[in-house]
Amino acid sequence: MSDKNPKRYTVTAALPYANGPLHIGHIAGAYLPADIYVRYLRLTHQDVVFIGGSDEHGVAIMLRAKLEGISPQEIIDKYHELNKDTFERFGISFDMYHRTSEPIHHETSQEFFLKLHEQGEFIEQESEQYYDEEFNQFLADRYIVGTCPVCGYENAYGDQCENCGSSLNPTDLINPKSILSGKKPILKTTKHWYLPLDKYQPWLEQWLLEGKKGKWKPNVYGQCSAWLKAGLQPRAMTRDLDWGVDVPLPHTEGKKLYVWLDAPIGYISSTKQWALDHGKDWEPYWKTQPNEEDNTRLVHFIGKDNIVFHCIIFPSILHAHGEYVLPEHVPANEFLNLEGKKLSTSRNWAVWLHEYLDEFKGKEDALRYTLCTILPETKDSEFTWKDYQARNNNELVAILGNFINRTLVLTHKYFDGKVPAKGTLETIDEQVLSKIQSWPDEIANAIENFRFREAVSFLMDYARMGNKYLADTEPWKLIKTDVNRVQTILNLCLQLTANLSVLMEPFLPFSAKTLKDMINLSDPRSWEEAKDTDILKPGHLLNPPVLLFEKVEDNIVEEQIQKLHQVIPAATEAQEETPAKPDIVYEDFSKMDLRIATILEAEKMEKSNKLLKLKVDIGLDQRTVLSGIAQYFKPEELIGKQVCMVVNLAPRKMMGIESQGMILMAEDKDGSLVFVKPEKGVSDGSIIS
Ligand code: 2FM
Ligand code: ZN
Repeated sequence: MSDKNPKRYTVTAALPYANGPLHIGHIAGAYLPADIYVRYLRLTHQDVVFIGGSDEHGVAIMLRAKLEGISPQEIIDKYHELNKDTFERFGISFDMYHRTSEPIHHETSQEFFLKLHEQGEFIEQESEQYYDEEFNQFLADRYIVGTCPVCGYENAYGDQCENCGSSLNPTDLINPKSILSGKKPILKTTKHWYLPLDKYQPWLEQWLLEGKKGKWKPNVYGQCSAWLKAGLQPRAMTRDLDWGVDVPLPHTEGKKLYVWLDAPIGYISSTKQWALDHGKDWEPYWKTQPNEEDNTRLVHFIGKDNIVFHCIIFPSILHAHGEYVLPEHVPANEFLNLEGKKLSTSRNWAVWLHEYLDEFKGKEDALRYTLCTILPETKDSEFTWKDYQARNNNELVAILGNFINRTLVLTHKYFDGKVPAKGTLETIDEQVLSKIQSWPDEIANAIENFRFREAVSFLMDYARMGNKYLADTEPWKLIKTDVNRVQTILNLCLQLTANLSVLMEPFLPFSAKTLKDMINLSDPRSWEEAKDTDILKPGHLLNPPVLLFEKVEDNIVEEQIQKLHQVIPAATEAQEETPAKPDIVYEDFSKMDLRIATILEAEKMEKSNKLLKLKVDIGLDQRTVLSGIAQYFKPEELIGKQVCMVVNLAPRKMMGIESQGMILMAEDKDGSLVFVKPEKGVSDGSIIS
C-alpha cells in the first residue's frame, strides 16, 4: 500500500442494476471481497464507510420493465428491495445501501454535470445516431445489439461487449439491430455532450500507467493499459431516453445523463445520505484535503466488466471536476463460472442468492467460505455444488468446526466449562504461542493486498494447527495421569479458539458471532486481540457448545444440480438466436416416445420457485412430472389441458420427487413459455410422429 495509515477509507462496491436478483457471480466479483476488506478495516478501528446501492437508470432497467410489462419505477422498487434484503441476509455489511432514483442523487449528478459544463469540459456535438423508425426512438446503449468489432461476439450491446469487456459506441457495432423491433436501425441527427477522454489521455498515462504500475492487480492494469494504448475517444455523457437523470440545461427535453456518468456519482450521493443520517460530514470521504496525509483512500470493488468505467472514465470525471480524491485501488475480479458454463441470467444458469438463503438457512457462511476460496482474483474460476459440499464438509466441518468443538467439549467435560490456567510451557506450546502472535499479520497482509483466497487459506491453516496440536498432545489420554498438563493444553486451545473468533469475523461473520456467544466473549472485538495469548482469562465461564457447521448431504447437492439442469429460459434481455442443431437421421428421432397427455393435477413444489408438480394421464398410465414452469403458469390454469410429452425420458429425481417425462414447451422471443398442444382434443396416449 502506498501510504501506511490513511485518515479514512471510502470503500464502494459496484451498484448493481435494480433489474434482477443477485447471483453468486455478482457476489464473488465484488461484494464478498469488499465485505471482507471492510470488516477487517473495522476490526482495526479504521474510519471506514462502505457504500453501495442500486443503479436504477439506464436501458437495462427499461428493457426489463418492458419485458415484465410493468413500469421502470415498479421494476426498481421490486429489485431494490429484494437486493438490499438479500445483501443484508448474506451479511454484506454496507453502511449505506442507497438508490440512484432518489432526489439527492439526481441533484448531485446534475451539479457534477453543470460544474463540468461551466468549466467548458464537454464538447457539444451533433451526430448521426441509430434510430428505430418503428418505435420512434433513438437506440442508446443496450437498445441495440450487434457484432463486437473487437472480439466478434455477435450479441454485443451498443455500450459494451460483455464477452471481451470492450466499451463501445452503438456505431462501432457490426450488423446493428434494434432490440425493440429487431430491425436494422436508421441514422438520425441528434445533439449530445461529450467528455473529451482523448484530452485526459496524457494525464491518465501519468496517473494510471505510471502511478499504478506494480500497485494495481495485473488484470486491471493490463486492461487499462490496453485501453490507453488503443487511444481514447470522446464519449457521450448524455442520451436520448425517457428514464434517468434530466440533463440540467435548457432545451434538452428527452435527454438524460448517461447512466455511466450518474451511476458512479451514486457512490457520492449514497455517502451524502449516510452522512445526513448519521450527523457526519460527507466531504472528507470524497474531497481532497489541504494536507495530503489527511486524504481518504478510495477503493472500488467491481467485476471486470466495469474496469474501464472505474479506472478511466470516472477518474477522468473526478479529475476534471478538480476537488475529488481519485481511486487508490480498483481490485476488480474476473468472472465466476458455474458447473462448467458461464453464469447466465437469461438462461437461468445461476445460483440465485436469495434462493440459496431461503433453501440453506443458517448456511450463509458455508457459501461465503466456498466463494472466498474460489474468488476469481486473477482469472476466471468455477463454482460447483460438489466443491461447495467438499469445502463445507472437509474444511468447515472437519477442520475448523472440529477443532473448536473438541476444545469446547473437552473443557466442559474436564473443567465444567471454565477456562483452566496455563502451567509450565513445553516447546510445542511455545511454538503455538508464537504462531498466535504472527499469524494474524499474515492474514492481515493478504487482506490488505486484496488476496482474499490466500487470507482464507491462512485462516483454515490456523485451525489445522489447532487440530495438530490436539492430536500431538492428546489431552484425552493425559487427563488420567496429568491434569495440570491438560489444563495448559486446553488453555492454549481456548486462546486459539478465541483468536479464531476474531480472525473469522471478516470471512464467516455469522459463525464468528455464534462462536463468541459460545465462549462468552462480547462483540465487537479488535484485530489486535487475535494476537493476544491470554484473551480468555482463567476461570472465565464458557456457554454450552453447539455445532458451528453441519455437513451437507449428497442428496442436497444432487437436488441443486438437478434444479440447475432444469434450465428455464427466464424473461431475458435480447435472446440469442439459437443456431440450428446438426442433422439427425430418422432413427434418432424414432427413439423418442412422444404422446398426447392430459394434466390431471397441478401444485407448486414446496421450497421451489420454479417447479410445478403435475399428475398427467398419458393413456398408458398416470404419472408425475415436474415442470419448471411455476413462474409462467398458475397451477389451477393447467388442470384439464392437453399437452405433448416425451414419455420415455429417463426418470430424474428433483427435490426428492421423481419426474417421469417431460412436457414440451415453446419459448417465445421475449422469453415467455407456451405449451405445444394438439389443435383439437384427441385421446390421451395418441402418438406424435
Ligand atoms: O454493471 C453494472 O451492474 C452496473 N450497474 C455497475 C455500476 S457501478 C457504479 F458505477 F455505480
Ligand atoms: Zn467483444
